[in-house]
Amino acid sequence: MKAVLTQNLSKTYTGSKNAVDHIEFSLEQGEVFGFLGPNGAGKTTTIKLLCGMLAPSEGSCRVFDLDPAQNPEKLHQLSGVITEHAQMYDHLTGLENLVFYGTLFGVNAAECEKRANVLLERLGLVDAQDRKLAAYSTGMRQRLSLARAMIHSPRILFLDEPTSGLDPESAQNVNSLIRELSVDGTTIFLCTHQLRYAQEICTTYGLIDEGTLLATGNIQRLRAMVFSGVVVHVKASRMPDGLVYQKTGEHTYDITVNSEDEIPPIVKGIVEAGGNIYHISTHRMSLEEIYFSLIDRRKAGKEGENDE
Ligand SMILES: Nc1ncnc2c1ncn2[C@@H]1O[C@H](COP(=O)(O)OP(=O)(O)O)[C@@H](O)[C@H]1O
Ligand SMILES: [Mg+2]
Repeated sequence: MKAVLTQNLSKTYTGSKNAVDHIEFSLEQGEVFGFLGPNGAGKTTTIKLLCGMLAPSEGSCRVFDLDPAQNPEKLHQLSGVITEHAQMYDHLTGLENLVFYGTLFGVNAAECEKRANVLLERLGLVDAQDRKLAAYSTGMRQRLSLARAMIHSPRILFLDEPTSGLDPESAQNVNSLIRELSVDGTTIFLCTHQLRYAQEICTTYGLIDEGTLLATGNIQRLRAMVFSGVVVHVKASRMPDGLVYQKTGEHTYDITVNSEDEIPPIVKGIVEAGGNIYHISTHRMSLEEIYFSLIDRRKAGKEGENDE
């Protein structure tokens, strides 16, 4: 059974074009899926469709074989979600909020408290647990809403920008918590703009722009769509004749190769030509570079269409 399966999934808000336009992808259990795209791309709409907060205009989606719009209660038992507007109670303390929501999901109060303590500790909220939510800062609320989403140990978590607005230390805590959950088998659907963090924790990705899914897969697969080679940075006193390279600075050069096997002969060639090597390193395209390359390619394609 897939954790998530969408077929032709589409959502059109009244009077506007498709916010989500016939997207198809699937997630295995335990995947950490990074759903990436610029503002307005359709990420939040997709989360809302998968959580049953919106019904599709066309196509379908299933989460652990449940239709979210048809079975919202069942789905809520096995999923946790944070979106921009997490509902919690200002007049309850942090701990009381967690226990309230845990029992709502059918977990008994003692178990809730135990789990709440672990989460509050992990998210740096122990000192604030007995303070009313009204006195929480935005970042504290955000972390508490994450704890709320996890209080019933869901099988899948939908996280919409969970670290935006958090300081680097809190963001790091949240990311390591996400990683631990995935090791325990929780499936994570993560929308984020923070591509470097995404590359640290995600196992697969989906890239969406203007409702259209541009690419899905692990980083190797995305890289192959753009450029799968390796760039070798070299700092050497001289370079041999006949080697194809790009000069990037005083005695620094970039050489593009298809695989790492090509590197030893290059090193040998430089040394044999009487060159001293001071530095050598390899560089593969990062998630951030792949992202911008695919988005730019789409933009260029669209401009091309308009020119015709
Ligand atoms: N409630 C709504 N009514 C009308 N249009 C909406 C609504 N919510 C989102 N949209 C539009 O749908 C598109 C996708 O939005 P959204 O899913 O929020 O994108 P993202 O989360 O990637 O920033 C945008 O063009 C946005 O303006
Ligand atoms: Mg959004």
